[in-house]
Amino acid sequence: MKIHQQQAPTLAKRFACKLATGVSISLALVCTSSVSLAQKAPESVSANDFIELFAKLGGQHPGMRKAHARGVCAQGVFKPAKDALQYSNASFLTQQSLPAQVRFSLGGPNPVADERTPGTRGIGIQLSLPGGDKYNITGNNSPVFTGKNPETFFGFLQTLLPDENGQANPAKTGAYIAANPSVQPALAYARSNPAPASFSRSDYFGIHTFFFENEQGEQTKFRWHLSPDAGVLGLSEEESKTLPPTFLEERLTSELAEGTVSFTLSAAIGNEQDSVIDPSQQWPEERPVITLGTLEINQAGGDACTAINFDPNVVPSGIKTSDDPVLKMRSPAYGISFGKRLSQQ
Ligand code: HEM
Repeated sequence: MKIHQQQAPTLAKRFACKLATGVSISLALVCTSSVSLAQKAPESVSANDFIELFAKLGGQHPGMRKAHARGVCAQGVFKPAKDALQYSNASFLTQQSLPAQVRFSLGGPNPVADERTPGTRGIGIQLSLPGGDKYNITGNNSPVFTGKNPETFFGFLQTLLPDENGQANPAKTGAYIAANPSVQPALAYARSNPAPASFSRSDYFGIHTFFFENEQGEQTKFRWHLSPDAGVLGLSEEESKTLPPTFLEERLTSELAEGTVSFTLSAAIGNEQDSVIDPSQQWPEERPVITLGTLEINQAGGDACTAINFDPNVVPSGIKTSDDPVLKMRSPAYGISFGKRLSQQ
């Protein structure tokens, strides 16, 4: 069907609403109006604003992580591949094997979240390097983030708060999504993905751009991706009806009783035109990919992860962080959450 020029903006808005919300809200009402104040992202937000908003959305849970509250700790080893040595002088790449502390999680502040529900799954990996350095690799099961910057993400979360009448307002959320296109790719991706059948059967993505750095100080941009060696597998409809709301830890433990669970960590190498600072924009699929190594998990459970802050800005020499404002926001937000949970707040 050919779209006439005058039709295009309206159709694009309608498509955006449908794509992102997947609910039959009154499109004419929310998607064809001009951008109102409520549909605009705030001009600035702080890490503490996020912590307070998470509590408003999910309640106060003293001693718990303020996001990704539900999770399971695991241990294993990371075996680096040599491919990245062409771009980086990171000394850990020459090691045979490094100890890895891992935490798998569900997104959100709810420590008793239903694990049969589709949505965010996360992984925090902390590699211990010779000499005491750490490398934190922390990502989610989506290749893109819900917004081009912290403000856009925050504005989206705010629309999920109940109105003064105590009721959720999907029309408000729909209007925000239509007015803020950078939240749309992540929501569309989430809608197309079932709940993972196991923590070991999900992809995880770094989302942000990082850089390899070599001896000469030359930098090469990359985005990492962790893929399960057993393949990606979603929960079947049957399982989502019959499983108890909590099954992921038990499933991981029984998989480990059968053998090791493993993942391959790879890096897509970016082109000049690929965004460095916008985590809502996916890089084209045809970018060259190199293998960074294999993560082997051999044990799950325990509370070793309580004392770990999986801040993704903790990287060793030979790896650099980017100026992505979402990546930058994560350090102070994780720091506040870490301090609060260790002091039972
Ligand atoms: C403005 C953006 C973000 C904010 C404010 C935020 C906030 C937080 C907070 C407060 C925690 C709890 C930290 C702790 O207590 O140790 C957390 C954990 C986590 N976040 Fe984020 N986050 C953001 C973006 C992201 C992104 C882009 C990803 C994925 C690429 C991500 C993945 C995770 C994961 C996997 C955890 C759990 C780590 C663990 O197991 O300890 N977050 N986040």
